[in-house]
Amino acid sequence: MVVPASAAPPPADWNAEGYRRHAGFVAELAAPVVEVLAPRPGERILDLGCGDGVLTATLAAAGATVIGVDGSPDMVAAARARGLDARVMDGHALCGGTLFAAGEDRRPFDAVFSNAALHWMLRPDAVISGVAGLLRPGGRFVGEFGAAGNVARIGQALVACLDRRGIDGRAAWPWYFPEPEDYRARLIAGGFTVVRLERFERPTPLPTGLAGWLATFAGPFLRHLPAAGRDAYLAEVADAVAPGLRDGNGQWWADYVRLRFVAVRPDRPA
Ligand code: BEZ
Repeated sequence: MVVPASAAPPPADWNAEGYRRHAGFVAELAAPVVEVLAPRPGERILDLGCGDGVLTATLAAAGATVIGVDGSPDMVAAARARGLDARVMDGHALCGGTLFAAGEDRRPFDAVFSNAALHWMLRPDAVISGVAGLLRPGGRFVGEFGAAGNVARIGQALVACLDRRGIDGRAAWPWYFPEPEDYRARLIAGGFTVVRLERFERPTPLPTGLAGWLATFAGPFLRHLPAAGRDAYLAEVADAVAPGLRDGNGQWWADYVRLRFVAVRPDRPA
């Protein structure tokens, strides 16, 4: 019998130290999308899904006033330890009322930026509408996240190996990886003008191997298994994907596919 697994909420219990060790490359590979954002001195920018604040700090170093938000208290603590203004907040519930403290500067943002976070937010329309509400007219929403086909081999193996244990792996799927046209339509429906939107493959070497990646990101699948069964499950996943994702030198790669976009909130309603 296949038991339905409820889809996990994004892991709010991420561990900042583990993330830095196994997934530090996420921020390192974000230089191109930061370049697309082109933060300017004096701009007010919201970093949505700021994680441990590595990129938030880059935006602040460009002279912008940046607020970072993230659902994980541990990540927000790590960002604050860098001296950043970071707040625990669910990306589905963005609005000035909950973001700002009483008496705080509530001027709208010039830009909302997001790297490698939007795929954890399973209700994209709520996110887009919250972003639109925080931007000034003419403000930009610039982001990059997983597109359709992202981590396809790893994801398929995670699902199949749960299925094999009688658990509905698909129901545990924690990510939103849209087709470009799906996301474009949602941005437009949310009142944005889409200036740029592209999907591209970006195979990514994993500094601590597949094991490090799975330790960081496979929690939504692992939580359906008893602790005693997890190592065997992860070994089976690794065996399944090794032919496609481990090269002749033993280097593991993740089959990343990105969606990068720029959308602008029009000056006046269309
Ligand atoms: C990504 O950045 O594409 C990603 C990271 C973790 C899990 C799934 C996707």
